[in-house]
Amino acid sequence: MVKAVVAGAAGGIGQPLSLLLKLNPIVTELSLYDVVNAPGVAADLSHIPTPAQVSGFLPNTGSQGHKGPEEEKRGAVNALKGADIVVIPAGVPRKPGMTRDDLFINAGICATLAESIAEACPKAFILVISNPVNSTVPVFAEVLKKKGVFDPKRLFGVTTLDCLRASTFVASVVGEPTEASKYVIPVVGGHAGHTILPLLSQAKPSIPSSVLKDKSKRDALVHRIQFGGDEVVEAKAGTGSATLSMAQAGAEFADKVMRAAFKGETGLVAPSYVNLEADPSAAKTIQQEIGKDLAYFSVNVELGKEGIAKLNPVGKIDETETALLKKAVEDLEPSINKGVGFSPASKL
Ligand SMILES: NC(=O)c1ccc[n+]([C@@H]2O[C@H](COP(=O)([O-])OP(=O)(O)OC[C@H]3O[C@@H](n4cnc5c(N)ncnc54)[C@H](O)[C@@H]3O)[C@@H](O)[C@H]2O)c1
Repeated sequence: MVKAVVAGAAGGIGQPLSLLLKLNPIVTELSLYDVVNAPGVAADLSHIPTPAQVSGFLPNTGSQGHKGPEEEKRGAVNALKGADIVVIPAGVPRKPGMTRDDLFINAGICATLAESIAEACPKAFILVISNPVNSTVPVFAEVLKKKGVFDPKRLFGVTTLDCLRASTFVASVVGEPTEASKYVIPVVGGHAGHTILPLLSQAKPSIPSSVLKDKSKRDALVHRIQFGGDEVVEAKAGTGSATLSMAQAGAEFADKVMRAAFKGETGLVAPSYVNLEADPSAAKTIQQEIGKDLAYFSVNVELGKEGIAKLNPVGKIDETETALLKKAVEDLEPSINKGVGFSPASKL
């Protein structure tokens, strides 16, 4: 029996993500939480004949599912009770001209949700989608630490969309647009602009040198992967950011976490933005590779029964990537500090 929760389930990402989780046969209970419309989304999805039993919760939804003033603000805890995995796309998305850092307003939402998770399901795997991921993951960690339940092996910043974009854009540049899914490109660093570092030199299958050695082609490809989110924000013209591709990315990553944890599958590896303490010996290697003692970084993560089984080092990178890494680390550090500095005990 696997209980999955989506927090922010009525939103642009939340609805298609909830649909994809409803279609995942590993999930037997799907609990949807949002400050609006979650019961409606739950009722809608509940008519699909898959194993997951769906329920929807608002902030004032009681433990039996009914509304009541005595349960005011307990809805999140009631939705999360006993969860095995919580996926979080709650918060405000970008509008044209905004960077992900402009979304730090989401930190408060994340801190409150982290508090509810600490109470209702402290052992759950937590998958953070809410931006700015580079800061919101540290916000989650700090609240969980204060509550005495932080396990770095169970906290993930979801960066899978950067990997999906890398596969799609690489396949297009090498002239194989219909073969996009065969290209696996590790994307390390963080999840915003220059912190997104696609390791094109490690692509499998490898990218032809006619692309890798052509500076303008390569620069354009890297830029498109780093700033691909802006294409969607601009095209949606003020109505939001990536939702459908993000739902697919979130569902793919959640599926891997669940297959490793609950189905005992081995060899599942995916990049994720994590607290490096999840694997202290690997942390030292990674910090040496990146030349800075950052507490958070996105690397290839080997998934297992307890979440993170192992962190893989960045590995061999070429000269172009070495320069990009320097910039990524520079930009990442203040975003991490912002997240760590948030959530003082007095706010909780
Ligand atoms: N990690 C990534 O790759 C990635 C990609 C795209 C978007 N995002 C981020 O995901 C977040 C959601 O994007 P969206 O397009 O779905 O936005 P949206 O506005 O469509 O949906 C957000 C939902 O969160 C809900 N919400 C707000 N406060 C809440 C709270 N306290 N508890 C529970 N739910 C709450 C809202 O009611 C809404 O339904 C944004 O921060 C966006 O920047 C991340």
